[in-house]
Amino acid sequence: MTSDIPWTRIFPDIDHRWIMGLRQGNLAGFFAAQDPTGTIRTERKRWFSEEPEKYVALLPDAEAAMLETCELARTLGNPVPTVDTSPLEQLLALGPAWEPDLVWMHPGADGVHRLAGGAVCFPSSWSMPEMLGRPMNQVHQLVPGLNDLLARQIDTFLSKLSPGVSWQRENWGVSRDGELNHHPSRPRAALDSTVTLEEVWIRLEHQLLLKLPRSGSVLFGIRLELVPLADMLADQTAAQRFSRLISTMQPTAARYKGVESARPALLAIIEAALANL
Ligand code: HEM
Repeated sequence: MTSDIPWTRIFPDIDHRWIMGLRQGNLAGFFAAQDPTGTIRTERKRWFSEEPEKYVALLPDAEAAMLETCELARTLGNPVPTVDTSPLEQLLALGPAWEPDLVWMHPGADGVHRLAGGAVCFPSSWSMPEMLGRPMNQVHQLVPGLNDLLARQIDTFLSKLSPGVSWQRENWGVSRDGELNHHPSRPRAALDSTVTLEEVWIRLEHQLLLKLPRSGSVLFGIRLELVPLADMLADQTAAQRFSRLISTMQPTAARYKGVESARPALLAIIEAALANL
């Protein structure tokens, strides 16, 4: 079911550019289980047990935040497996217990937020352990032009966060498979001029940011939702806005998003879908 996806918020009626897109969050709703089939947690369990080094990492700076997140989850009624051996083992148990991925950013004495740990098995073409210790602007280095436009705003936002108040935003991408795990080490079909409607998925990242009151770290939750392109195109306004965003994307952004050589094919697919509505 995609009728409840707020497409007009996710696809603003503008030419493409990177945006903050923040709004007040719903912490309990974000972390509550949403997949009654358990498929998401089963897949999470697989990645965290098969190749933990690709998906889990923790610096001492994030240990307090991880424990604080466990306490918070308990108060929200989420299951929290308790492991006494080590903080890393505790995090490894946490990763598959919940549906969203987790990252903690910790502010240093210089006020700069650095990635201090997390459990991320459904990344959109990045490796969380490789980003360990990096400040926000380095994490965002892989997105062309993002820092020029938003780095200052993002740093200000993180340093002014009120403890306990959550915020949410979405990122979207396009892919040629319905795979949740897009770790850079995994093979991936490229979007190119041969792409067909049935092969394309919208990759929606629902993100939550929360400054944890005691540790002072920022919890960054990422909940991934995959939507067949055809489902989204059934919504005329969404299709029109998506078309505008795809066609106005700078070449560097289109390359980063993986749609550079598929752009004419995608636009033709959207046009055909709109003509049939
Ligand atoms: C106020 C907070 C944040 C804002 C406004 C923001 C904004 C953005 C935007 C606009 C993109 C480009 C997405 C696209 O392809 O359309 C992006 C990508 C990315 N962001 Fe952030 N971000 C924020 C926080 C974070 C945090 C805390 C992390 C920590 C890991 C992070 C990691 C990434 C990564 C790895 C990417 C590239 C992969 C992807 O496209 O998802 N961001 N961010």
